[in-house]
Parts: sequence; structure tokens; C-alpha cells
Amino acid sequence: MQTYGAAQVMSVTAVTLCGKVACMRFPSLRFLAGAALAALALTPMLAAQQTAAEKTAGQVFKNIQVFKGLPASELRPTMSFIASSLGVRCNFCHAQPFSADIKPQKKIARRMIEMVFAINKSTFNGRPEVNCFTCHQGRPEPDGALSIAADVPPPAAGAMAAGPARGGARGGRGGRGGFDRTNLPTAAQVLAKYEQALGGASALAAIRSETMTVSQPMMRGAAMALNVVKQGGRFAITQGRGRAGYNGSAFWSWRGRGAAGPAEGEMATELSLYQGMYPAAGLDPAKARVFARVPFQGGKAYLMAERTAHGFVRYYFNASSGLLRRIITGTPTYLGMLPLQVDFSNYQSVGGGVKLPLTLKFSNHERSWTQTVSAVKLNAPVAAGALAEPSGGN
Ligand code: HEC
Ligand code: HEC
Repeated sequence: MQTYGAAQVMSVTAVTLCGKVACMRFPSLRFLAGAALAALALTPMLAAQQTAAEKTAGQVFKNIQVFKGLPASELRPTMSFIASSLGVRCNFCHAQPFSADIKPQKKIARRMIEMVFAINKSTFNGRPEVNCFTCHQGRPEPDGALSIAADVPPPAAGAMAAGPARGGARGGRGGRGGFDRTNLPTAAQVLAKYEQALGGASALAAIRSETMTVSQPMMRGAAMALNVVKQGGRFAITQGRGRAGYNGSAFWSWRGRGAAGPAEGEMATELSLYQGMYPAAGLDPAKARVFARVPFQGGKAYLMAERTAHGFVRYYFNASSGLLRRIITGTPTYLGMLPLQVDFSNYQSVGGGVKLPLTLKFSNHERSWTQTVSAVKLNAPVAAGALAEPSGGN
């Protein structure tokens, strides 16, 4: 684990040396290259993973002063959260050696972190309500003055009448922005209709294994191919020489050499979306609630949310077809969630009376990427070792 921490720091150091767009932020996640940067949400499993045994940031990294007792795995997503909140790159605060306090911006940032922790503690009972984005909104220096009316674009037609449209789980108080809370179905009803739309509970229960070929466009017209195998509560994704998956209790990743290690942060969030034989397969109606009927892609959707250890995961089900259209989840950081949204479309029959979405569009705080499923096989034999976590000696 100590070595793992050192490797993390090295990969982070490499980041600052690479060019602008073409550079992966975290080379350690090059497996699932495009995908690895995602953000997201906390399945209870994932939360359970971050328990007592986990090292703290103070144990793993060199120069930690304010994040000392916090879980080491959340440090990197926290840094992404900070960088995106200010609209800057890592080298805005970091120089060589990476952990040193060379730049004044890093020292200011440390004071800002202390300020944010203090505000949340004194004013919000410790809930993480205020964070860097609250003030910075994507700029290094927040605006402290009111805007001049002439510079503000006029509201879109109809927006005034409908009241401010506030999206997300907090929106919709008193029907604002088209949120409708009358006669809502229960979570169990929405999930039953969803299962029916996918082919019915018995057809879904008959899926014992699933293999998928997925392609993801990369820069310069190239595409990355992913092979996904699922069986018995486990799954493995292979891409080139790299692999990642879930072993029944934890997410892991392997870069093609040595032993597999834990997949953490944004990568674990992204991997959590592959769990189950179909999206949201494990969602427990007893832990979820339908919050509203909301306007969605020209129709209506039921917005359902599940409370996890780190906040809400949101699900949008098309109100007429019953199909799941969107999941918004996130990676917890010390300051707030790094969001990850997945839009599901192009539902097609894949055999066995089952329909699955063949187009998945991922979007996080930085970028979007699309995965297209080109082949699905249900209940094909799974090769021995196809789900195994490489244990080294390679
Ligand atoms: C706005 C300033 C700022 C930005 C931008 C920023 N960091 Fe940091 N970073 C900090 C501060 C402050 C600390 C020290 C936290 C503490 O004292 O607990 C830190 C600590 C770290 C550490 C631990 C270093 C050590 O060994 O002590 C790593 C690794 C790190 N940041 C990575 C990143 C990466 C990767 C990015 C870009 C995604 C990034 N940071 C962007 C301010 C920043
Ligand atoms: C309550 C509002 C507020 C919050 C919350 C806030 N900041 Fe700031 N921040 C400011 C203001 C205002 C300035 C500009 C101060 C100045 O110009 O002297 C600033 C300046 C900075 C700067 C210096 C920028 C530069 O161009 O040199 C850094 C770095 C920074 N903030 C980091 C953070 C980080 C990291 C967080 C979250 C942990 C955060 N801030 C949260 C208000 C805030």
C-alpha cells in the first residue's frame, strides 16, 4: 500500500510534465484511457470498501497539512474538484517537487480549504454545503461585484413565467422548473415497469452471464475496444493489455504488469456503472424514492434518487416507456462530489427476450465520451480465468 501511494505521486508528477489536451491527467489510469477520468457515485459497496483499513492522506502523501486524517483514495478526486472549481490545471498550484509549497497559490488554496471547512462546520452543522465552486464558479478569482444589467443575457422566453429552473435533486420546490410532485408512483412501481420494459423479471433473472464488445471513439478518429464479461456478481473489462473489474466485494484494476491493485476514486465510480446485468440492476426500491415527474428530453421522466453513504445517486426513468434514461452519480471528495452522468439510449433486443441500451454517453465535469455496444451475448460460456484479478508473476 505504501508503494502504491508512491506510485500515485509519481504518476501525478508525470502529469505536470505533459502537454495540454493530449495528456491524461492520471497516467496510472491509462487503462480505460478516455473513461478513467470520470467521476462518481457511491454505491454502498464502494463506501464499504473505504473502511477502517484504508490509509489516510497524511500517511500516503508527503506534505499534507489540512487533509491529514482523511482517506487517501479521496485526495486525487479532491484535487480534480479544486482544479475544476477554479478552472485551472494542477500546475496552477503545483511545481517540482510536486509536494513542495513553492507557489503562493498553493498556500492560498490551503487557507481557502481551512475557510471552507470552518464555514461548513460553524454554519451548516458540518454538511459540505459550501465548497470552492460556490464562489469560484470556474474562475481563479471570483467576482465580488454585481453584474451590470446590460452585460447579462436576457432570460429565455418563458423562463420568467416558469420561475427559475433549478436542475438536479434540489430543484423543484413548489413545482418550479416543471417539477411535478402529484400522484407519483412508488420506487417499486417505477422499477417494476422498468424491468417489464427490458423484457420482464423472469427474462432478466435468466441472464447468468453476459459478454459485450464495446467501442469508444478516441482522438484522431481512432477507437478503443473494450471487452466486458459479467457473471455471478463479478465482472471484468479488458482493454488492450489492461483490465479492471469487480471481484464481488471491491473494484480492481491492472495495467498489464504485476498484480492488480484497488481501483479507487473516479475509476471506481465509473466501474460501478458496469455492475449488474443491466443498468441499475441492483437498485433496492426500499432505499430509493421517487421525487418528481420532470421534463426530460421532450417528454417526462420520473426522477428517483437513492441515498448512499456519500449523497444521492439520481435516476431518470422515461415516464411512458419505463426505460432508464440517465444516471447521475459521483465520486466523493473532501469538498463535494465530482459528478458523473450517464445517458442510456438505443435500447435493442439482445436475445432471450431482453432489451439493453447499446449507446452510453458519459459526461463528467470536464468532458463527454460515448460507448457503443457492438455485440452482446447472453449466457455464453465464460472462459476460466476471464473474471480473475491478475495476481502478478507476469
Ligand atoms: C488551487 C490549488 C491546487 C490545485 C489546482 C491542485 N492542487 Fe494539489 N494540493 C493543493 C494543496 C493546498 C495541497 C496540500 C493539501 C494539504 O496540505 O493537506 C495539495 C496536495 C496535493 C497532493 C499531495 C502532495 C503531497 O505529497 O503532499 C497531490 C498528489 C496533489 N495535490 C495532486 C494534484 C493534482 C493531480 C492536481 C490537478 C488535478 C492538483 N493537485 C491541483 C492545491 C492544489
Ligand atoms: C467564500 C468564497 C470563496 C470560497 C468558498 C473559496 N474561495 Fe478561493 N478566493 C475567494 C476570493 C474572493 C479570492 C480572491 C482573493 C483576492 O483577490 O485577494 C479567492 C482566491 C483564491 C485563490 C488565489 C487565486 C489567484 O489568482 O491567485 C486560490 C488559489 C483559491 N481562492 C482557492 C480556493 C479553493 C481551493 C477553494 C475551496 C477549498 C476556495 N478557494 C474557496 C473566495 C472564495
